[in-house]
Amino acid sequence: MLGTRGGWQALRRCASLPQVVRLRVSEALGAQESSGEVKVQGWVRSVRSQKEVLFLHINDGSSLEHLQVVADPSLENRDLTFGSAVEVRGKLVKSPHRRQNMELRAETIRVVGACDTWTFPLKMKERHPLEYVRQFPHLRCRSNTLASLLRIRSEATAAIHSFFQDNGYVHIHTPIITSNDCEGAGELFQIETSKEAKEKTQFFNVPAFLTVSGQLHLEVMAGAFTHVFTFGPTFRAEDSQSRRHLAEFYMVEAELSFTESLQDIMQVMEDLFKTVTSTVLSKCPRDVELFHKYIAPAQKDRLEQILKHKFVTISYNEAVEILKQASQTFTFKPEWGCDLQTEHEKYLVKHCGEVPVFVINYPYDLKPFYMRDNEDGPQHTVAAVDLLVPGVGELCGGSLREERLPFLEARLQRYLDLRKYGSVPHGGFGMGFERYLQYILGVANIKDVIPFPRFSHSCLL
Ligand code: 4AD
Ligand code: MG
Repeated sequence: MLGTRGGWQALRRCASLPQVVRLRVSEALGAQESSGEVKVQGWVRSVRSQKEVLFLHINDGSSLEHLQVVADPSLENRDLTFGSAVEVRGKLVKSPHRRQNMELRAETIRVVGACDTWTFPLKMKERHPLEYVRQFPHLRCRSNTLASLLRIRSEATAAIHSFFQDNGYVHIHTPIITSNDCEGAGELFQIETSKEAKEKTQFFNVPAFLTVSGQLHLEVMAGAFTHVFTFGPTFRAEDSQSRRHLAEFYMVEAELSFTESLQDIMQVMEDLFKTVTSTVLSKCPRDVELFHKYIAPAQKDRLEQILKHKFVTISYNEAVEILKQASQTFTFKPEWGCDLQTEHEKYLVKHCGEVPVFVINYPYDLKPFYMRDNEDGPQHTVAAVDLLVPGVGELCGGSLREERLPFLEARLQRYLDLRKYGSVPHGGFGMGFERYLQYILGVANIKDVIPFPRFSHSCLL
């Protein structure tokens, strides 16, 4: 996770000076040799006081593992409790214990911030369920699960950027405040200044919204760059109760010019998923293991299998046939022309062996104006694709875009200029980052994969 190089280079540089090198817990744990004096700062995860010796475990967010501090009992004091913030100075030595590499022999321990253990909601050595820690959004980053999740989020974010950069995509910062409604599903948050609300004046001269997707801005850029992507916050005023919808979420979006086949878009989705997942599994093995051990047993094996095989593809027509032939009765009867409901998605994924499934070529009338007409019939479809995954449902949505002016003219006026000046076949997709994390970690509730859940839904759960 955090590189050990910085601290140790500094340590070597300062070898002749009596200077104290600050090490992160991950650096201290990964050290290969004993050291001169170092200092480590962090929060106490356990205190065990014996007659001859005092043991502490400290954690600073750099790894799931804690650093064991061994001290003389005379260094103990009233404020040195579970949860307190401390700075420990001492020497790193090889640990006699099999399960840890190094430990810190303390010379001084300074309590930087005391912690009232009676009122602190997290308790020493307890494995708090996600539902419990969710009640303390301001403190839950001090629990192992949330800390692991946040390190995984950070690593997955970097891996997504690397994937696109390595494949020649240009990263575009698409606007958050916009006047367009890309998806046209009416799930917009409108914005106004506090003054506007009182005085009925307008800051912008058009209605402005928080973005629901950066796609239209990416499409503008795809008129000059053949490969672009964006990865930023997205806002939707959607269903407040669902386990897989957020009001604010992060979406990864890519747009590829000179692309005439939906398969090319699907290949990028699949490569993105597999590359990012392999990176996360190899860079945060312990953090991921915590989820796969306590929250979603067997998810690790399933993921490893999935990484080895090609994703399954079925058409919307085939999907409807599979659903119609199912022995199960659905609340929403499957009919050609109807949107796939969560129960349908679940069934399809199960039918295909609990693996990711691309569903392609959806009915023309179900999808937004920008999707490319397949010119088929009588069941009229567009070149759209949704990637469905077990436990979560839709993870990615994408399509070829309608680049032919006459086809669009009938559908929309404002999209048209983009098609008049060097219009090329292109397509793209979006992937919900939180749903991605939910899926690979096997987390049931989407609120458990975001750092701050306060405004994640319209009602506070
Ligand atoms: O399928 P969606 O609506 O696609 C688009 O917005 C396209 N404009 C993307 C593109 O082609 N550039 O959203 C993409 C993904 C979904 O598949 C889902 O994973 C996620 O975004 N998503 C949500 N995640 C959490 N909470 C919500 N309310 C979400 N709505 C969509
Ligand atoms: Mg969609």
